[in-house]
Amino acid sequence: MATIKTKRLLSDQVSQAEINIIRRELARVLGAGVAGDVTEFGCYVGTTSVFLASDLAQTDKTLYLYDSFEGLPAKTSEDQSPAGEQFKAGELLATKAQLIKNLRAAGVKMPIIKKSWFSDLKSDDVPQQISFAYLDGDYYHSILDPLKLIWHKLAPGAIVVIDDYANEALPGAARAVDGWLATHPVKSLRVENSLAIIHT
Ligand SMILES: C[S@@+](CC[C@H](N)C(=O)[O-])C[C@H]1O[C@@H](n2cnc3c(N)ncnc32)[C@H](O)[C@@H]1O
Repeated sequence: MATIKTKRLLSDQVSQAEINIIRRELARVLGAGVAGDVTEFGCYVGTTSVFLASDLAQTDKTLYLYDSFEGLPAKTSEDQSPAGEQFKAGELLATKAQLIKNLRAAGVKMPIIKKSWFSDLKSDDVPQQISFAYLDGDYYHSILDPLKLIWHKLAPGAIVVIDDYANEALPGAARAVDGWLATHPVKSLRVENSLAIIHT
C-alpha cells in the first residue's frame, strides 16, 4: 500500500480499524480489475479521502469527493435516536479549503471535489462507471440519495461500503441500506465494526 504524509488520522469520524477495512475492500476492487472510478459521499476533512487518494495513485482511477461543506442537514424521522442527540444540523462542518489543505499536506493527487447537498447532485456529477463507493453521510437521506445516484453506474464486481450501519446513534444509515436492498438484490452484505460492506 502507498504511504501518505499524514501521520495521525485527520479526525475521529472514522477509526483506524475502519480505514483498514475500507482500504482492504478498495484493494479487492483494484486487484480484481473492476472498471470505474471511486466516490466518497460525505468526505468532511478528508480523514478517509487521503487514504483513498493514496491507494489510487498508481491506477487510472479518479477519486470523486462530495460534501455540502455546510455540515449535516436536518434529521428526518428515520434518524431520531436518544443515543444520537449530539448529531445536529450544521455539525461536522468542514470547508472545502480545509479539505484541500489536508489533501495537499498528505501529498496525494488532488481528487475531483464537488460541493453540494447530495439531493441536488445530478447523474452527470457522478462518474460514468463506479468500482468502489464509500458512503458516510450519517443520515437516512444522506445515504439513500447517493445510493439512488450511483446504483445504476456500479460496474460488475463493484463494492459499496457504508459507515454507521451498526451505529445506534445514527439509525437512518441502516434504514436506508435495508430499504434499498429490499428491492435491489446484491451478492452479499457483511458488517464489520460499524461498516456495511456490500458486494454487488
Ligand atoms: C461523518 S462526516 C464524514 C467523515 C469523512 N468520511 C471522513 O473520513 O472524515 C459526514 C459528512 O457528510 C456531510 N453530509 C451529510 N449529509 C449530507 C448531505 N445530505 N449532502 C451533502 N453532505 C452531507 C457532512 O457535511 C459531513 O461533512
